[in-house]
Amino acid sequence: MNTAVLNLAADSSGQVSEGLGYGVTALYIVAFSLFIYGLMGLTGPKTAVRGNWIAATGMGIAVIATLLGVYNNAGDAGVPGINWVLIVLGLAVGVALGIPPALKTKMTAMPQLVALFNGVGGGTVALIAWAEYIESDGFTAIAETPDVHVIVGSLFAAIVGSVSFWGSLVAFAKLQELLNKNLEKKLVAAAKGFQFANIVLAIAAIAIAIYIGVSADSADATPWFWIVLLLVIAGVMGLFVVFPIGGADMPVVISLLNALTGLSAAAAGLALNNQAMIVAGMIVGASGSILTNLMAKAMNRSIPAIVFGSFGGGDEGGPGGMSAAGGTVKATSAADAAIQMAYANQVIVVPGYGLAVAQAQHAVKEMAALLEAKGVEVKYAIHPVAGRMPGHMNVLLAEADVEYDAMKEMDDINGEFNRTDVAIVIGANDVTNPAARNDPSSPIHGMPILNVDEARSTIVLKRSMSSGYAGIENPLFFAEGTSMLFGDAKKSVDSVIEELKAL
Ligand code: TAP
Repeated sequence: MNTAVLNLAADSSGQVSEGLGYGVTALYIVAFSLFIYGLMGLTGPKTAVRGNWIAATGMGIAVIATLLGVYNNAGDAGVPGINWVLIVLGLAVGVALGIPPALKTKMTAMPQLVALFNGVGGGTVALIAWAEYIESDGFTAIAETPDVHVIVGSLFAAIVGSVSFWGSLVAFAKLQELLNKNLEKKLVAAAKGFQFANIVLAIAAIAIAIYIGVSADSADATPWFWIVLLLVIAGVMGLFVVFPIGGADMPVVISLLNALTGLSAAAAGLALNNQAMIVAGMIVGASGSILTNLMAKAMNRSIPAIVFGSFGGGDEGGPGGMSAAGGTVKATSAADAAIQMAYANQVIVVPGYGLAVAQAQHAVKEMAALLEAKGVEVKYAIHPVAGRMPGHMNVLLAEADVEYDAMKEMDDINGEFNRTDVAIVIGANDVTNPAARNDPSSPIHGMPILNVDEARSTIVLKRSMSSGYAGIENPLFFAEGTSMLFGDAKKSVDSVIEELKAL
């Protein structure tokens, strides 16, 4: 790819129109403004859908502006003609491949879809770097006075884009449960070996990048072999970084890879002198980094601990698992649960991953409406990492038309549990685990939790005594005031609804 192709500054010679060049720049500014305005909309569930559309419109405008820029520069000396057929074909293939999964994928599978889309972004950036290398004969064609921002930008994009592509593919495979469980456990157990290999690979990648960069100063191009070797080494590094990461940490890693893809796109934009890629890449890089940090904080984990340590093998439990430590568990029935809640002043619903699996959100909304009709105040306690992605519970409940005002964030609701008659935990586990507060030896010690154990009574809806994502036992289930309503959350809530109607 020739740097001049995407150069925004219109050349006044040949067919190139200065006016069109300014128009392209103006369109880019509109696109950036829409990216930022759209991103602001993503801060709350009420505005998120609109925000997404606004940012997507911005991206559409950026694509049009880029094509206009290419068209405008096509007459410039040394710039090849435009292959519109290829461009239209590429756009059509992208739309055809992107829209169906975006429409069809269930909310519970959203993290792996994000991983896949993110991986494609990283892979594209790595290919752009490769193309730039080939077009410029190993950067020598631009090396009369070596263009440092092209060389450094391209090499950074090649390494980070490739890491992100292959790492995201492993993340996708793990979350989609394509990897054999035993193999996954072995990979997690081999974390130290992968770390050592990654140090060696990182040193090799940097050495090759320096060699390519320094060689650009000479008349002889470095053979294509070196850039391919660089991409392969970075790709293996991407695989090795994500192989040993446990399931519990995977969404954080996806957010981290997303940030890396953004940074690599910005670096490629620098090399191509394309402002749209620089701005969009930096927005993704910055927002991805902030999100990674927020998620790690909400899980009381540090980012190096996530990347270099392994925690949570992705065992999400399942029917039939029993507690190792035992203890006395009280089982309850839908009829008892309905009576308990119907005579309460306040009920707090605590949703978790199991609510998403069971798709119980509409039933929960119906149950809440029946309780409210009986004069019970119903609130929802939302933990920042309940479920498998940020905002997971908000999105599900909003889908069932639960009022935004009834969804309370952890810090706002935690003080209310001790004056709440019934907390009903629906498919949540780790985010209610008092060991995070009380047991310094617990792997999740220090993670902020919902103070469900402070409620006067607690009803837990889950299928068995299996652990949650962190793979640890929850003393809440054995507490004096807790009773368990075993079964699929949707079926259990449906049964409670029937009992409430009969009261
Ligand atoms: P978990 O601790 O994962 O517990 C979910 C529970 O749902 C399981 O114990 C499971 O028990 C139950 N369940 C599954 N399917 C069910 C069904 N059909 N009906 C009823 N219950 C069902 O969930 P959580 O409390 O939401 O915590 C989230 C976890 O994910 C935390 O460890 C968090 O750190 C981690 N995590 C979250 C994020 C984000 S951003 N949300 C990111 C990274 C990691 P049974 O098998 O017995 O039914």
